[in-house]
Amino acid sequence: MGESVLEFKVKDLSLAGKGKLQIEWAKKHMPVLNLILERFRKEEPFKGVKISACLHVTKETAVLMETLKAGGASITLVASNPLSTQDDVAAALVKEGIHVYAWRGETEKEYMMNLRVAAESNPDLVLDDGGDLHTLIHEEYPELAKNVIGGTEETTTGIIRLKAMAKQGILKYPVIAVNNAYTKYLFDNRYGTGQSTIDGILRATNILLAGKTVVIAGYGWVGRGIALRAKGMGANVVITEVNPIKALEAVMDGFKVMPMRKAAEIGDIFVTATGNINVIDREHLGVMKDGAILANAGHFNVEINLKSLEELSISKRTIRPSVIEYVLKNGKKLYLLAEGRLVNLVAAEGHPSEVMDMSFANQALSAKYLIENRGKLKPYLYNVPEDIDTEVAKLKLKAMNIEIDKLTKEQEEYLKSWRWEY
Ligand code: ADE
Repeated sequence: MGESVLEFKVKDLSLAGKGKLQIEWAKKHMPVLNLILERFRKEEPFKGVKISACLHVTKETAVLMETLKAGGASITLVASNPLSTQDDVAAALVKEGIHVYAWRGETEKEYMMNLRVAAESNPDLVLDDGGDLHTLIHEEYPELAKNVIGGTEETTTGIIRLKAMAKQGILKYPVIAVNNAYTKYLFDNRYGTGQSTIDGILRATNILLAGKTVVIAGYGWVGRGIALRAKGMGANVVITEVNPIKALEAVMDGFKVMPMRKAAEIGDIFVTATGNINVIDREHLGVMKDGAILANAGHFNVEINLKSLEELSISKRTIRPSVIEYVLKNGKKLYLLAEGRLVNLVAAEGHPSEVMDMSFANQALSAKYLIENRGKLKPYLYNVPEDIDTEVAKLKLKAMNIEIDKLTKEQEEYLKSWRWEY
């Protein structure tokens, strides 16, 4: 890809004006990233650096792209989900000089084709959400993988995959697990997914949550966030878990806990948030109530057994945007949201800008760290350096006009001591 020619593939460039306003709106709510953008503009840490990013193409991602570009990077951006691209934003980014290959409604083949463009652009840095680009580069472009200075990974699912690669000793470049920063998962996974998942369900269905039984599979940070928000809107929340500690936590947080086989019979709305396959399986679909709604908040569309849903059905139709009605052989109707893909990004706009501000501040600063430490890091999965994580929290508090206390000298000494001197 030549530097002087901007290559891209998006749905409709004439949407760029609309996209520009969306980006402006997001930017207004992303003060930390704005600050980093100004720093990058001065320092140009990415001068001459080629970045390939596989992220949800949203207005928030656009602000991250602007930040990296201000730092001198040349960027190729592809979607990390075939249905999550905001086409107006994609068009606006092309106008800003980003090589975007993404549109909403990519087929599996088109999705892979775009990922290949990102791999073949011979990146110095690889930013990923879900691990598809990292794995593609490792499996099909081992020669190009050798040139990669480092990568970042945004989400839990991607980290699980990268951990497996690191364990097998096949990881070819260092990757920073952005997801594992406190200023990422405590806010993005919990409050971001919590709010945007409910947002997606409501935009798709406009149902009343008060009084409904909402079954949430998985009580990780995402499940916790969804449970908290569903409860806040008056739903009766049921948690299903495989981990005894998380299950116990859910019980003591005030939720009912039971196996999916039981929950399947009583739920009005089901939300999967486990990162695993067939969490809602054939046996569960068969006993659900007429009218039950199925949604997924996990990265891949594997948590609801869609093959079984098809096999158990005699017909299906799209009844509203993002809502497919399945008529089962047993006469009951089930409603699948967002084709079983991330309901918050397909039926709504993903996490609010305020939380992506912190997640993407970690992305931006981790990318800079990789460049600064070029050649010093091993092909391994690293946590976001603690000082970056703390810096993001400090900047966010400052932007929110919130002051906190500082340890006194006396308190610092006390924390270091272990004798009964006081
Ligand atoms: N993942 C979840 N929400 C997102 C958003 N708004 N932008 C990019 N990635 C996301």
